[in-house]
This record gives sequence, C-alpha cells and structure tokens, in this order.
Amino acid sequence: MKFNDLWRRLVTREGGDRQLSFESRRVMIANTPYVLRQATIDDAATLVEIERIIYGKAPWNEAAFISDIKRSDRLYVVMQTALGRIVALVGLSLHPRTGDGHITNIAVSPSYQGRGMGTFLMRAMIAVALAHGMKSVSLEVRIENQGAQRLYHRLGFSIYQQKHHYYFPDGGDAYEMKMKLTRMGE
Ligand SMILES: CC(C)(COP(=O)(O)OP(=O)(O)OC[C@H]1O[C@@H](n2cnc3c(N)ncnc32)[C@H](O)[C@@H]1OP(=O)(O)O)[C@@H](O)C(=O)NCCC(=O)NCCS
Repeated sequence: MKFNDLWRRLVTREGGDRQLSFESRRVMIANTPYVLRQATIDDAATLVEIERIIYGKAPWNEAAFISDIKRSDRLYVVMQTALGRIVALVGLSLHPRTGDGHITNIAVSPSYQGRGMGTFLMRAMIAVALAHGMKSVSLEVRIENQGAQRLYHRLGFSIYQQKHHYYFPDGGDAYEMKMKLTRMGE
C-alpha cells in the first residue's frame, strides 16, 4: 500500500465513505499530557464558552458549531486535559475541487495559550489536509491579530490577500494566509 493511501485510511472512517474523522491520541505539550480527539455535537456549548471567554462575545453560536461538526467535509478536533476539560479547538474544511484545506476556526483557552498548543493543532490539521491530497492550507486572520499571524508565518504561511469588511458585525479586515503543501518526492 502506498504511503498516501495508508495515511488516508488512518484519517478517514473505515469503509472509505469520505467522512472526515480523526483517531483520538494522547499527546504531550510542554510536559503535560492531553488527549486530542474529534469534537462531537455535545461539545458545541463548551466551544462557544471557550470563544466567549477569549473574545468577550462568541463569534460562533452553538448552532453554527453543530452544523459544522456534522458536515462530512469538515473536521473539528479538541484538546482535552487529563481531567477531561476542553481547552482548545481547531476546525478544518476540505475543498477537493480547489485542493485547499481551510482552517475554519482555532482557539486556545487564555490560560493555556503560549505553550505550543496552537502550533500543535495547526500541525495536526496540516497533516490531515496533506493526507487528503490537499495542495494548500488557508485561513483568515484579523489584520490586527499579530500574535496569531506570527504563529502562521512560523508554520510557513504567507499573506495571500487582504479581505475588506470580512468580519461581522464590526466590519474588520482580514488577511487570507496560505501555505503550499508538498509531499516528499514532489
Ligand atoms: C492564536 C492562538 C490560537 C495560538 O495558540 P497558542 O497555543 O497560544 O500558540 P503557541 O503556544 O503554539 O504559540 C504562541 C506563542 O507561544 C510560544 N510557545 C510555543 N510553545 C511554547 C512553550 N512550550 N512554552 C512557552 N511558549 C511557547 C510560541 O513561541 C509563540 O510565541 P510568539 O507569540 O512569539 O510567536 C491562541 O493564542 C488563541 O486562541 N488566541 C485567541 C483566538 C485567536 O486569535 N485565534 C486565531 C484566529 S485566526
């Protein structure tokens, strides 16, 4: 079996129905154990709460998370502490026609930021996009969010274009950032 086929089987549901899925795994971040697992619709309220703490007002409501988590072309992964508390989330949507994997959302609870969790989650989603044959990964970030942009630059993203009045309701601008993916031997 080719390496890419093997990876595809590891990250997609057995039976090959193209449902994006993610096998739970234990990970160590800054010497602390966490569990990385696929989000379920039962996590939606917690994800809203994490974003409410970060942004003051949650940009996504529970219904938005539920509808995205249910979609077969999207993958939401959460980071859980040993006590089962969700402290971070990331979302990916795949666009096979354009070959782009899009990061729909990434958030780390404030007291867990700066420990490498965001980097870890981004790398995990980049690996999933690569395993599904995507040629790039993209995302939008507020132009004033320089901390997040630093992280994306470090991972290999660069600014592709500025999107005016991208964010609702304040009309803030976004940068669309992109990273090209290459497989070994290409
Ligand atoms: C942006 C965000 C997702 C990044 O997640 P994070 O877990 O804080 O990111 P990391 O810890 O991987 O990297 C952030 C910083 O911590 C540092 N860091 C990484 N590993 C570390 C470790 N083990 N110990 C201490 N610091 C570490 C990194 O060097 C980085 O420093 P920099 O700011 O100079 O680049 C998170 O800060 C967040 O949720 N912010 C609010 C929401 C948001 O802005 N989302 C992005 C929308 S596009």
